[in-house]
Amino acid sequence: MARRRQLYEGKAKILFEGPEPGTLVQYFKDDATAFNSQKKGTITGKGVLNNRISEYLMMRLMDIGVPTHFIRRLNMREQLIREVEIIPLEVVVRNVAAGSLSTRLGIQEGTRLPRSIIEYYYKNAALNHPLVCEEHITAFGWASTQDLDDIVALTLRINDFLSGLLLGVGITLVDFKVEFGRLYENDEMRIVLADEISPDNCRLWDSKTGEKMDKDRFRRDLGKVEEGYQEVARRLGILPEAGVRDLKGPEMMQ
Ligand code: C5P
Repeated sequence: MARRRQLYEGKAKILFEGPEPGTLVQYFKDDATAFNSQKKGTITGKGVLNNRISEYLMMRLMDIGVPTHFIRRLNMREQLIREVEIIPLEVVVRNVAAGSLSTRLGIQEGTRLPRSIIEYYYKNAALNHPLVCEEHITAFGWASTQDLDDIVALTLRINDFLSGLLLGVGITLVDFKVEFGRLYENDEMRIVLADEISPDNCRLWDSKTGEKMDKDRFRRDLGKVEEGYQEVARRLGILPEAGVRDLKGPEMMQ
């Protein structure tokens, strides 16, 4: 197979040029980072599981009409996606207090919020992804008011749908981060869901016991990190057929 051109390497993923113009290949790594890369590690099988979990959740969201960059999964660690212009925002939705909200505002972790809260963080690692408000976003031209209207509408639908889907398998969607991109097609621009949705960027707690099944197991040294990701896939009914043995997946194909 011809060697593909690498376009970008992030902390958990690599983007390669896709087979057709306007497409990219998104490769999921096992690398994990936290606290803006101050903590680094490997979660064996994470890339395989996140590829599956993100495929599954994006397909379900597409079923209800949420536009996404996802086209199809190619293999254990790669998916074909549409090339979009990423909006430099990390959009966080919170249903239950946890993480930086609890630290910043002194609200005890686990407190159910009176309503879902959307926050924006500026996607800039050098600045440590600062919390920003709508005024910053529109004044600095990161997104227009119309873009933000679309982003909020999509984010609320995503939250409602995923909260229900996950609750159905005994998981509380505490909070999550999504990213959006601009897709240009036939002289039109649409805002679409991009990046990934996986236990790397969601807080997922067992609805009965409160046990964490997400990246907080890695961030907070809780142990059984791999098992948390596997349990999410198992409950969604998408654990790779060969089971846990197969999670290392094939080496990267270039
Ligand atoms: O750390 P914080 O409480 O602000 O995180 C809120 C949510 O956003 C968590 O689900 C976390 O996994 C996700 N997040 C992320 N990438 C970041 C920061 C937060 O996926 N850079």
